[in-house]
Amino acid sequence: MRRKLVVGNWKMNGSLAANAPLLKGVAEGAGAAGADCAVCAPAPYLAQCQQLLAGTPVAWGAQDVSRHASGAYTGEVSASMLMDFGCSYVIVGHSERRAYHGESNELVAQKAVAAMSAGLTPIVCVGETLEEREAGRTTQVVSAQLEAVLALLDGQQVSGIVVAYEPVWAIGTGKTATPAMAQEVHAQLRMQLKEKSADAGAGVRILYGGSMKPDNARELMAQTDIDGGLIGGASLKAADFLAIVQAA
Ligand code: 13P
Repeated sequence: MRRKLVVGNWKMNGSLAANAPLLKGVAEGAGAAGADCAVCAPAPYLAQCQQLLAGTPVAWGAQDVSRHASGAYTGEVSASMLMDFGCSYVIVGHSERRAYHGESNELVAQKAVAAMSAGLTPIVCVGETLEEREAGRTTQVVSAQLEAVLALLDGQQVSGIVVAYEPVWAIGTGKTATPAMAQEVHAQLRMQLKEKSADAGAGVRILYGGSMKPDNARELMAQTDIDGGLIGGASLKAADFLAIVQAA
């Protein structure tokens, strides 16, 4: 039985002043939930997450990581630096990084390896654009994105990742994949994980992301292969985020 996981992706939002009540609210409300829960904040606020979330049931993480361990890579943040601030998770390959920063499947895979080597759990994002879906290429696109990561990890390592299926056309648009549409892709991703390792197929959590809100979370997470959510907009309000955690 996979324990549900709900992760907030704040994206480039927040301030010290605004984060404090949000983090406190989430920490207070998450206690009673029977699901795992985390927030992925902008890097400058990870110290604040550590300060306000340490000792609570809420974990925290980053939204990106360098594939390099250290050195002359101006502006980059390494996995060991994230570990210094108590992170458990890091998102890799979010579609916004793929689209706006030209991240390839191979680079995303290297970032996942860097994260795992430092002891972080990578949340590997995959997802198709509207054009790709309409051209009938969804399976091909998401399986290539996942395959690049599987190629660099052994079976045991694969069991330690989290996968997030985020159809690009559903992100920030208010359009959600129907539970059946999402389940179909999740089942395919699980089969692909299973081919790599039976343990990974059974144990890896596959989150859905893309306009998940309090009013659609329960139905999405009731699907066999949907093990939680990666939440953008709704993670910026404690009440909405907690409602999704409760649904999980
Ligand atoms: P929204 O929940 O705002 O659609 O964002 C989803 C997302 O991109 C999470 O990573």
